[in-house]
Amino acid sequence: MSSAQLYDTIGATYTVTRRTEPRIAAQVWAALGDARTVLNVGAGTGSYEPSDRDVTAVEPSAVMRAQRPAGAAPCVAAAAESLPFEDESFDAAMAFATLHHWQDPIAGLREMRRVARRVVVFTHDTSETGWRGRFWLTRDYLPEIADLLVGRPSLTELASAIGARTEPVLIPWDCADGFFEAHWRRPEAYLDDHVRRGVSVWARVGPEPEQRAVHSLRDDLVSGRWAERNRDLAALDAAELGLRLLIA
Ligand SMILES: C[S@@+](CC[C@H](N)C(=O)[O-])C[C@H]1O[C@@H](n2cnc3c(N)ncnc32)[C@H](O)[C@@H]1O
Repeated sequence: MSSAQLYDTIGATYTVTRRTEPRIAAQVWAALGDARTVLNVGAGTGSYEPSDRDVTAVEPSAVMRAQRPAGAAPCVAAAAESLPFEDESFDAAMAFATLHHWQDPIAGLREMRRVARRVVVFTHDTSETGWRGRFWLTRDYLPEIADLLVGRPSLTELASAIGARTEPVLIPWDCADGFFEAHWRRPEAYLDDHVRRGVSVWARVGPEPEQRAVHSLRDDLVSGRWAERNRDLAALDAAELGLRLLIA
């Protein structure tokens, strides 16, 4: 199943838990610099689109496009790997939490680079030290995540494809956008079906690993084992879990 088809299947309830997190949006918008025209690739329902700039959106899933609010930026049905725009059509191109879905991420990044003078991409460092080993959910409950990463380019490969620098993105403890890592200090949230349905990882690993992870986490919350293992997190207001901006 392509990722656009995936979102046509799982995307219908996206806005229940997914929305712009203002502190992360501020970092993305700062990275856009003085860009007036902005292309948002893999735009989904319109989160993180700056309201003070001239935005054009690209989104392959009809279910996601249909949930864009009235008055949202115009949205073209297309994919990152083949953007239907002339070279240097935009001051900047942005992509948020979408690159891991692209069939060919390097091709998509090069397309963004082709059509815009500046590129800003929110993604994650999938290495053992960057993300998998740092986040307790992937490390202790969902090791199957490694299977989803086979054959995917590393953060270094992504950055060098477009000559980007990387910038860490901290996740506030009360992050408003319910992406996969958002509830790092609120572990009970992962027991909630609505929270998991807003994140494609759970659909992609399949029902058995999902149920095993949820049961195991529930047991550890009841027994106090989770709190014991993760006691350092209670004192943090924001966490560095390997999320990155690529800026070129
Ligand atoms: C997790 S959602 C993120 C949506 C939005 N950027 C946000 O932050 O809420 C991932 C989006 O990537 C889109 N997508 C999947 N494959 C894509 C591709 N090849 N090119 C562009 N977008 C794609 C999906 O349809 C989905 O809307």
